[in-house]
Order: sequence, then structure tokens, then C-alpha cells
Amino acid sequence: MYVFYVVLIIFFTFIAVFFLTRSLITLISFFSKSPFVPLEKVLIARGLELLNVKKDDRFLDIGCGDGRVVFSCAEKYPGAKFYKGIEIIWILVLVAKLKKFFLREKDCIIFERENALNYDYSSYNKVFMYLLPEFVSELMPKLEKELPSKSVVVSVAFAIPEIYKKSGDLSVEEVRLGRKVKKIYRWEKN
Ligand SMILES: C[S@@+](CC[C@H](N)C(=O)[O-])C[C@H]1O[C@@H](n2cnc3c(N)ncnc32)[C@H](O)[C@@H]1O
Repeated sequence: MYVFYVVLIIFFTFIAVFFLTRSLITLISFFSKSPFVPLEKVLIARGLELLNVKKDDRFLDIGCGDGRVVFSCAEKYPGAKFYKGIEIIWILVLVAKLKKFFLREKDCIIFERENALNYDYSSYNKVFMYLLPEFVSELMPKLEKELPSKSVVVSVAFAIPEIYKKSGDLSVEEVRLGRKVKKIYRWEKN
């Protein structure tokens, strides 16, 4: 009976810590440029399909949260040079690194605590974003300037502004999620 109570206490403590940490992360992230809202699997899958990560590509998820997009990309599109996630909230970087610790194939997966606004994008050619529209608009001039020619940027749910048609090929597609329809924007630099 004693063991049963100990197991029960450990179980509920674990659940409480898990939900407290999640709430804390959500709360902290509301003070950043784009709050932590994990992306649905269908949208991750379609976004990555549009990026079409191939051998020797250099993948980056801007504002990677708990790393789910980075892990998904590494699993479905092996062979890239590296799969990197940058994130401003250190607890999320820690969660992503912890998840990475339990993976078998992890050498080319990297997470770093960085501010996307001060980051150098010149070493990447496949970029994924799920960020608020103002943040996308703020980042695009930097991406336009620093990414190498023929790089691809995918923005899920929030628009890459029309002006980027001048410097690249901009397309949009709709993905149905039950009753909701979400858009995915793809921009390929000239
Ligand atoms: C909507 S979430 C996307 C999470 C993840 N990419 C996904 O799809 O599940 C946006 C993330 O951007 C991060 N973020 C906000 N401002 C940032 C900044 N200046 N630099 C880096 N990351 C930032 C937030 O902390 C949050 O985790």
C-alpha cells in the first residue's frame, strides 16, 4: 500500500510539473515577438514538403519552439548538412535539447538560443517559419539580403508580403484542417 501511494504522488507531481512548465513557457513566450504555439502535424508535413529539403541542404527553423519541426524534417528528409533550430526562450531550447538527447540519429541536429532579429542567415538555404505576420515582415528584408540565391523560405499561416515577388518566386497554397483553412507561403529567392 505504501509503494502505491509513493507511485501515485510521483505520478501527480510529474503531471503538475509538466503542466506548470508548459503554462510558464506559454506565459513567457507572450512577451516575445511571436508566442509559442506548436504547429499541427499536417501543416508541418506540408510546409516541409514545399521546402523539399535535399542532400547537403542547410535547414533552419526560425523560432523553433520545442524543436518539433526540426525533428520532423531530420526524420523525413535525411541527408541534409544540418537541421538547425533557433529560439529566443531558453526553456524551449532546453526542452528541444533534451528531446534530442533521446534520439539515435542526432549528429546534424542543432539548437541554439538566438534572437532571430540579430541572426546571420547566410549559411542556410531552406528556411521554415511559423511566426506572427509583423515578425515575418520584419525578418523578410534580412532573409532577402542574406540568404544565398535559390534559397527557399516557407511561412506557415502568415503571409510573406507581395513585395517579395520582385526578388523571388512567391506562391501560396491552402491546406484544409477540418473546417479551417490555413495558408502556406513559399518564396524562392532569384
Ligand atoms: C508560433 S511558435 C513556433 C514554434 C515552432 N516553430 C512550431 O512550429 O511548433 C513561435 C516561436 O518563435 C519564438 N520567438 C519569438 N520571438 C523570437 C525571436 N526574436 N528570436 C527567436 N525566436 C523567437 C517563440 O518563443 C516561439 O517559440
